[in-house]
This record gives sequence, structure tokens and C-alpha cells, in this order.
Amino acid sequence: MAGGVWQMWPRKGGEMTLKILGVSGSLRSDSVSRRALELVLNSAEEHGAEARLLDLGQIELPMYRPDATASDVVRTVAAAVSWADAFLLSTPDYHGSMSGAIKNFLDYHWEEFAGKLFGYLCTSHERGLAAMDQMRSAVRQCYGWSLPYGVSVHGEEDFNRLGAVSNPRVVSRFRMVARDLVVYGAMIRSQFRRDVIDRESQTFASRYWQ
Ligand SMILES: Cc1cc2nc3c(=O)[nH]c(=O)nc-3n(C[C@H](O)[C@H](O)[C@H](O)COP(=O)(O)O)c2cc1C
Repeated sequence: MAGGVWQMWPRKGGEMTLKILGVSGSLRSDSVSRRALELVLNSAEEHGAEARLLDLGQIELPMYRPDATASDVVRTVAAAVSWADAFLLSTPDYHGSMSGAIKNFLDYHWEEFAGKLFGYLCTSHERGLAAMDQMRSAVRQCYGWSLPYGVSVHGEEDFNRLGAVSNPRVVSRFRMVARDLVVYGAMIRSQFRRDVIDRESQTFASRYWQ
């Protein structure tokens, strides 16, 4: 084991503290996607993670322009992405797709996602499978890893008027995705960083030190 990499990790209870960035892709003020994301991030913190929420409805992230000089907002988002060890993307289902806000967020990034695990949430009336698959495809193109399942919620059927989850199955799936993101996210991130630091050839990580 490379001593260096383990010393770099902040620790909590002897284990690495996984830093999770939740990204909320609805610009609606009373967003169900955001509410779902908050609940899963809270659950991830109960599993020992450190979580931050990037609410694309609260910032003005410009439409991605490859030639533009990075604004303060763009630099802040970039810093949050490099801070994160894992991600939780939450989108409303718009026309069977992820929201434009989430796609625009993803367009800014590429290899920053390598060796990091992503989880997916979707607010939909139709289970949101296509929207979550699209996010998974974009993340794969950026060398990110994905949980093999996502969690979809239906705003009217799964939440009550106070914003609490009324469907026990959703509660259980929120807990599952939070737990899996923390556990598998830490495994992937630590192994990836160890491979980079140890300069392990014949690994996925080798392209990041050559
Ligand atoms: C432009 C637009 C397109 C939508 N397309 C779909 C859709 O294809 N399938 C679906 O189930 N819901 C669709 N919806 C409904 C939203 O997914 C739903 O209202 C969701 O709760 C919004 O998430 P939010 O509360 O986080 O903003 C659409 C809503 C809008 C505004």
C-alpha cells in the first residue's frame, strides 16, 4: 500500500471521509428533485460522508462556451467538482431527458470525473429511466463510474404536502443509494488514487500519470 495516498485522505473514525457533491438540475423554486437530493445527501452524511449541494437553480451557470474565459461562477463550480470524490445528480424528467441545466453542468467537465462514482435521481411521472441513462452515458464519456441503478420519484405520489416522503419504498431506495454511493464511492476513489500514485500500469488509471 502506498503510504502517501492514505495520508492525503481526511479521516473520520479511521476511514476515509468521502466528499459527495449533489447537483440539483431543476431551476424551479419548490423543486422535488432538489428535495429528494437533500434527503439522500443527509442519509449519506449519516454514513460518514461529507456532502455539499450545488443547486443550479441558485446560481447562473452560463451556457457552456468552449472559448469563453471562466467567470467566478464557473471557477466556483470547477472547484466544487475537483473537491468531490463522488457525485449525486438529480434531474427532473424533461421530455424524457435530463434537464438542460444538468446537461450544461456536465458539458463543462471531462477528466475531472475520472475515478469518481456517480449516483442518479430523477423526478418523473414515468420512472425517468431514459433521463438517468443519458446522465450515465455522459458520465461514462468522461471516464466516471456509475451505480448500476438510479432512484426515480413522482412528486405528487411519493411526497406529501409538507415535502416529506410518503412512500416507504422511496425511503428505502434513498437509503440504499446513499449507502451504496458512500461505500462503493470510497472503494473506487481510493483504488483509483492508489493506482495513480503507485503508477500501476495495466490499469484504467494509468492514462492519468503517463
Ligand atoms: C419542459 C418540461 C418537460 C417535461 N417532460 C416530462 C416528461 O417527459 N416526462 C415526465 O414524466 N414528466 C415531465 N415533466 C414533468 C416534470 O418532470 C415534473 O414536473 C418534475 O416534478 C419536475 O421536477 P422539479 O420539481 O424538480 O422541478 C416535464 C416538465 C417540464 C416543465
